[in-house]
Amino acid sequence: MGVISPHRIQPSMLLILVLLSIFTFSASAATSADNTFLHCLVNHSESSHPIASAVFTANNDSFSSVLQAQIKNLLTALHVSHVQASIICAQKHNLLMKIRSGGHDYEGASYVTSTPFFVLDMFQLRSIEVDIDTETAWVQAGATLGEVYYRIAEKSKTHGFPAGVCPTVGVGGHISGGGYGNMMRKYGLTVDNVIDAQMVDVQGRLLDRKSMGEDLFWAITGGGGSSFGVIISYKIKLVRVPETITVFRVTKTLEQNAIDIAYKWQQVAPAIDNDLFIRFILDVVNSTTNVTKTGRATFVALFLGDSKSLVSLMNEKFPELGLKQSDCIETSWLRSVVFFADINITEPVEILLDRQPQPLIYLKRKSDYVEKPISKEGLEGIWKKMIELENAVFQFNPYGGRMAEIPSTATPFPHRAGNLWKIQYKADWKQAGKEVTDHYINLTRILHEYMTPFVSKNPREAFYNYKDLDLGINHNGKNNYVEGKVYGVKYFKDNFKRLVEIKTRIDPHNFFRDEQSIPTLPY
Ligand SMILES: Cc1cc2nc3c(=O)[nH]c(=O)nc-3n(C[C@H](O)[C@H](O)[C@H](O)COP(=O)(O)OP(=O)(O)OC[C@H]3O[C@@H](n4cnc5c(N)ncnc54)[C@H](O)[C@@H]3O)c2cc1C
Ligand SMILES: *[C@@H]1O[C@H](CO)[C@@H](O)[C@H](O)[C@H]1NC(C)=O
Ligand SMILES: *[C@@H]1O[C@H](CO)[C@@H](O)[C@H](O)[C@H]1NC(C)=O
Ligand SMILES: *[C@@H]1O[C@H](CO)[C@@H](O)[C@H](O)[C@H]1NC(C)=O
Ligand SMILES: *[C@@H]1O[C@H](CO)[C@@H](O)[C@H](O)[C@H]1NC(C)=O
Ligand SMILES: *[C@@H]1O[C@H](CO)[C@@H](O)[C@H](O)[C@H]1NC(C)=O
Ligand SMILES: *[C@@H]1O[C@H](CO)[C@@H](O)[C@H](O)[C@H]1NC(C)=O
Repeated sequence: MGVISPHRIQPSMLLILVLLSIFTFSASAATSADNTFLHCLVNHSESSHPIASAVFTANNDSFSSVLQAQIKNLLTALHVSHVQASIICAQKHNLLMKIRSGGHDYEGASYVTSTPFFVLDMFQLRSIEVDIDTETAWVQAGATLGEVYYRIAEKSKTHGFPAGVCPTVGVGGHISGGGYGNMMRKYGLTVDNVIDAQMVDVQGRLLDRKSMGEDLFWAITGGGGSSFGVIISYKIKLVRVPETITVFRVTKTLEQNAIDIAYKWQQVAPAIDNDLFIRFILDVVNSTTNVTKTGRATFVALFLGDSKSLVSLMNEKFPELGLKQSDCIETSWLRSVVFFADINITEPVEILLDRQPQPLIYLKRKSDYVEKPISKEGLEGIWKKMIELENAVFQFNPYGGRMAEIPSTATPFPHRAGNLWKIQYKADWKQAGKEVTDHYINLTRILHEYMTPFVSKNPREAFYNYKDLDLGINHNGKNNYVEGKVYGVKYFKDNFKRLVEIKTRIDPHNFFRDEQSIPTLPY
């Protein structure tokens, strides 16, 4: 996993970035800056919670590195009143607001754009209050998933929460955009386990589920926060997990029958016991027996039970994988998070409190949904294409179980029954530069094109949390609705209509907007 260093970053595109930061605040910073927006902020913040500010101007090449560096620093709203002041003043001074919690947006939508903007960073609003008696917790938007998991496990060894596998992802973006993790076959999506929320709307009002109403609550549990307001916190429902669970990671190359195993995985993974989640990763490696490249299949699994039961379940349902007791690691649910994050499982679990993601890389992601198993010939072709392209990775996440039971209208996330699994297309690279960037982005586009016969159609579905600007961009002008519909139906299918109605009602002037936000209805 790496951070997000969006390929679209170009100093010339970035004009103003106002960062709210306690560390750089001083009265002179506010007055010397020739910026009425800052005055407005100061004026609108409560004296008991003074607002902090700092200004960066982006007229030289260092700006993107400044921006990058700031991502790793503490910049932030410290109190709800700061969020309220930002919303009011941004409208008054016609500034675009970017909301950032964990900063893990795949397209940098939380901190990059082409018009003047400022970033409202939620980093400091990150408290986590776990109540085991009621099996709930209030988690603020700026907390990371790793922190949430750690704080739950601190209070109970038999509770967990079904959210994403990357511990540095932020609550704000992750939950508002849907959120899935390796317990989804048992407990559904993250948003299927959210029971209340606190949000500041376009008028600066702090709302909870009761005062915002069921429509708006529905919208911010999968429709993305950045179209509707600033999420302050969510109340989540904890789930039960056994004290001991089992994980494994098993790899097979093409020479080890990977195609046959992958073929069987398609039948098994979406249908097997809900306690078992088997992720399947496909990549290209050097062959050990041959000078050429070969395809490698990696099966990474979480089983909510002990290894003995797992091995017997696998022997019965998926003997082709040949899972052995020695492949299995019995551990706690919290440690399984470390394992799934590709961190050595013997590391101290405190690593989950580390908000710094692994070394900076550039990345591109795309997604697809598969509704029918792919034939062996189809799989062979995909493998061949992968080897030809070399540097792209597929990740297949099985659905079924609880995912197939929840109606597609229960939350804005529509990809439920009928989907066997989701595909993530993945390209990571370390070198900057347009040529390299184009090369890697092309790989994902070529693969996406190649997969057309195997995936959902009309619309070709995509996962909103895997933001992909290839699906369409909104310029938020006159064609707002028409442009928004292009990507909107891919992410939300029929739920797009309801999201647009809610958006039009609560933010008619489209203050909360980005490249792929929910549009308002044309008037
Ligand atoms: C390494 C990695 C692993 C991932 N793994 C998973 C996974 O296992 N499961 C999964 O579902 N997703 C996963 N994702 C995707 C992730 O859930 C989304 O990118 C998510 O939006 C990130 O949230 P954030 O707060 O970290 O991001 P940010 O970049 O801060 O925000 C993302 C979006 O949400 C908006 N937003 C953020 N905070 C708020 C707020 N408080 N109020 C309103 N809007 C807000 C932003 O404006 C932006 O549009 C992964 C991403 C990465 C980079
Ligand atoms: C600050 O607020 C007061 C009262 O609301 C208003 O009269 C004044 O013009 C504001 N000043 C600025 C700089 O916005
Ligand atoms: C340009 O970048 C340099 C650092 O490389 C910095 O010292 C300087 O202040 C920047 N200029 C402006 C106008 O921001
Ligand atoms: C794979 O082989 C190439 C040469 O064919 C070599 O440059 C590369 O380092 C190898 N990669 C790994 C991971 O061994
Ligand atoms: C190496 O792999 C290629 C392509 O899969 C195959 O045609 C060839 O026979 C293999 N050679 C050896 C020595 O295994
Ligand atoms: C994990 O760390 C332990 C202790 O440092 C080490 O012995 C082991 O080889 C590591 N495992 C992996 C898979 O790197
Ligand atoms: C990427 O694809 C575009 C259009 O398909 C093409 O013009 C360009 O040359 C490709 N770039 C690379 C580096 O492959």
